[in-house]
Amino acid sequence: MSSKRNFLKQFFKDRKMVGAVSPSTRFLGERMLENIDFDHAKGIVELGPGTGVFTDIIMERMRKDAKLLIFELNDQFYDALKARITDPRVQIIHDSAENISKYLPEEEQTNQDAVISSLPLMVFPDQLRRAVVDASYNSLKSKGKYVQFQYSLQSKKFLEGIFGNVKVGFTVKNFPPAFVYTCQKK
Ligand SMILES: C[S@@+](CC[C@H](N)C(=O)[O-])C[C@H]1O[C@@H](n2cnc3c(N)ncnc32)[C@H](O)[C@@H]1O
Repeated sequence: MSSKRNFLKQFFKDRKMVGAVSPSTRFLGERMLENIDFDHAKGIVELGPGTGVFTDIIMERMRKDAKLLIFELNDQFYDALKARITDPRVQIIHDSAENISKYLPEEEQTNQDAVISSLPLMVFPDQLRRAVVDASYNSLKSKGKYVQFQYSLQSKKFLEGIFGNVKVGFTVKNFPPAFVYTCQKK
């Protein structure tokens, strides 16, 4: 089955978890990742990779000695990523995104350079949304970046409440068009 058809199938199985009808475009991925300093980043976390559109770009750009930890809760997406990605820099985790710290060695639990999130935050229950973004915030080093896309501006106030300053970009080169939130830890 093509990754687009599989994506739609997973959406109909669990709309609230998947939160989109098709994988994002590479263009949206480029926008999500344009402010990440890949020359220096050694610890990157990706939340909700789906079929891995953004994961592929991250793997192309990350340093040889960097580590990428990815969290995917959907069984099918997880299995497909496990089968496809053999890069030793990447660890694929079948658990919910709020458990980031459980999978990082103690010295790396507050030392990540970037968290790249595609989670459908606004359809999450309040408690889960808060737990995921708090866990992301806590995992970042000072000046580390949290980048999140959403299909609306609804998340802006929520993210400002946690990170303070939030920059918002927008692209129509995705279906649906998407807002990219870039947040930086103080
Ligand atoms: C909107 S899709 C984005 C997929 C992909 N990154 C893309 O842009 O095409 C959201 C993804 O988050 C995953 N997801 C939802 N809740 C999750 C959670 N609590 N922890 C980890 N992944 C989750 C879904 O299974 C799905 O793959």
